[in-house]
Amino acid sequence: MTEPNEGMQAPVVTLDGPAGSGKSTTAKEVARRLGFRHLDSGGLYRALTLALLEAGTPRDEWASLTEEGMRALPVRVSRDGTEFSIEVGGRPVQAELRTPEVTAHVAFLASLPASRACLLRLQRTAGEQGRLVADGRDMGSVVFPDADVKVYLVADLSERARRRLVEGGVSEPSEDDVARESGVIAERDRHDSERELSPLRKPADAHLLDTTRLDFEEQVATIVSLVEALGAG
Ligand code: CDP
Repeated sequence: MTEPNEGMQAPVVTLDGPAGSGKSTTAKEVARRLGFRHLDSGGLYRALTLALLEAGTPRDEWASLTEEGMRALPVRVSRDGTEFSIEVGGRPVQAELRTPEVTAHVAFLASLPASRACLLRLQRTAGEQGRLVADGRDMGSVVFPDADVKVYLVADLSERARRRLVEGGVSEPSEDDVARESGVIAERDRHDSERELSPLRKPADAHLLDTTRLDFEEQVATIVSLVEALGAG
């Protein structure tokens, strides 16, 4: 009987892709099956955004914050089993990171050099011992360019919008709901793709996985088998 993944060099697996492509839920389940840790890098950008909103710092002052200023925000990240738990202002946060208000401001925060520099070290530290599944926008391109398995997840815009609405509790979204949400997502994708620093891009060496017509089990199994193939090689 061999341990799962025995023989692999503590791999790092990256999942990048646009909003609503299913990165975080997929990454979490892939990590669980492999016994790896899961890093939701979007959660870190969301935590900085929430801290600034809670501090009442006007948005037009965010760009003048230095890396030190970002680091001084009351955001704490700690290991909690296979997840990283995030605290803002001394309390654990989860749902609060995903409110429409945070979502409306996060892409701007993430375009600022100080926020990216502040989080780069933290993310690399999380990956130092390997056995990590990290999801975001620049995991395979910038944060972990030497990752062992890189995946780039895509799905049709309307399907991503529909999933987002279902996640948010709208069980049967109407066409109008889907059209409205598609607009919001497309705008964030544009912001993330057009920014100067760490823009959303498919790394050349990433596996492209279109999840539009895949169910959750299929997408998880596809990625797990890419990781398991490392051990076989
Ligand atoms: O879950 P969803 O795809 O909506 O977004 P997320 O992963 O929570 O990321 C929220 C935002 O953080 C993104 O729209 C990006 O602006 C930013 N982000 C980033 O710039 N780089 C990352 N590695 C992860 C997120």
